[in-house]
Amino acid sequence: MNNTKPTPGNPAQIILDGKTIECPTFVGTENEKAFDISKLRDSTGYVTFDNGYANSSPTTSSVTFLDGDKGILQYRGYPIEQLAEQATFLETAWLLINGEFPTKAELDTFNSEIVANQNVDANFAKIFDAFPRNAHPMAMLTAATVGLSTVYSSETDPANKDHTKKSLLRLLGQFPALTAYAYRHGKGEARVGPKAGLDYCSNFMHMMYAKDDSYSVPKEIVSALNLLLILHADHEQNCSTSTVRLVGSSAANLYASIAAGITALWGPLHGGANQAVMEMLQAIQKDGGDVNKAVASAKDKNSSFKLMGFGHRVYKNFDPRAKIIKKACDQVLAKMGINNPLLDIAKRLEEAALKDSYFVEKKLYPNVDFYSGIIYSALNIPTEMFTPMFALGRMPGWIAQWKEMVDGGTTKIGRPRQIYTGYTKRDLKR
Ligand code: SDX
Repeated sequence: MNNTKPTPGNPAQIILDGKTIECPTFVGTENEKAFDISKLRDSTGYVTFDNGYANSSPTTSSVTFLDGDKGILQYRGYPIEQLAEQATFLETAWLLINGEFPTKAELDTFNSEIVANQNVDANFAKIFDAFPRNAHPMAMLTAATVGLSTVYSSETDPANKDHTKKSLLRLLGQFPALTAYAYRHGKGEARVGPKAGLDYCSNFMHMMYAKDDSYSVPKEIVSALNLLLILHADHEQNCSTSTVRLVGSSAANLYASIAAGITALWGPLHGGANQAVMEMLQAIQKDGGDVNKAVASAKDKNSSFKLMGFGHRVYKNFDPRAKIIKKACDQVLAKMGINNPLLDIAKRLEEAALKDSYFVEKKLYPNVDFYSGIIYSALNIPTEMFTPMFALGRMPGWIAQWKEMVDGGTTKIGRPRQIYTGYTKRDLKR
């Protein structure tokens, strides 16, 4: 697995209160540069301040590379455009977790291990019955994912490689069922388990929608789902992946770390944006389809309205995933004979925003969440299930990043400092 040590550079000099300290610098394989401040506080008493960690890197990683200025996304060096065209989701999961594409024998074994681990313990599955009918599926999935650690409580030691292998197979194997069970609970329908002989994506759709064994999934739906899962599979140190790493840095087990990642993904500024985009497009449609009004509102500093699905902390150019999904929208809807007016609204909204100086100057482009909901809707997936679909795709990336950290063995527990601005010492006189 290609995981080279960064190349040392010339030390950085920091002058604070007349004192000069030197910090080692290093460069990664894609010329990303850092200076190491590990000794900063001990030698100067200063800490750095970085709202939202926009300029901070807690780790090196060889899993995924992004170049936000050039709109580049690569999993283990492979461009997302090529993976989208040529790979399956399970091949991509193996690639992210193990660093190379699987051989045919490795893929066959991986697939049968996932199949062997895809059944959710029937008694544990009753956890979904405890939730209100209108419970958000992300809440149910968080509980069910951390709950899986209780089903396999004797095999969750992060330091045990066999336990980690079993845990990742159980998560990849059972998360499709858990996602479908959350959906079925919301519909008041009985749970339908995996069916032998179906591929990963077909089995997920079977568990979501099958009324009986006659249900079959059209191949265009399987390939659309395969594409969407690949595009969501990893994205370096985003909010939810950083959460998975932070929780894992306390030596919490993989289930608990992933469950924390699911809660972080739920936020509308992160993975929850795909649900928020659909609700925004529906609101614009209800309001007569006036996209210029939406653009104006998004620019209005007195309005809390944001153009959901637009903007990105890293991409200051097109999100390559958004480009692929936009093209797939046209193809999937045409193949399925669907005419979704929301796609037209989304395209007009994109065009209006990208012509507007506010969005151009702030480099706000459509991100992965802007068009994905249009395809999910074409697959009959309801809006409240969009973010669970994001989690289903991101599962291998979270696992790969957590495993890289644990296997690396050098990560210290994450414990940021602060600058205190509250009361100085005062006596309690009661
Ligand atoms: C994902 O990190 C990842 O890799 C995430 C992800 C992944 O695969 O894991 O790619 C998935 O989370 C994609 C992002 C989904 N979120 C949204 O679509 C929500 C809408 N977008 C924004 O909330 C925002 O763009 C963020 C959260 C995505 C990024 O926020 P930043 O980097 O903190 O930027 P910011 O909020 O400081 O915005 C900079 C400026 C601000 O204006 P000023 O205060 O400088 O005048 O741009 C404005 C913002 O008001 N701005 C927007 C906007 N996004 C930023 N204005 C209107 N509409 C928007 N969508």
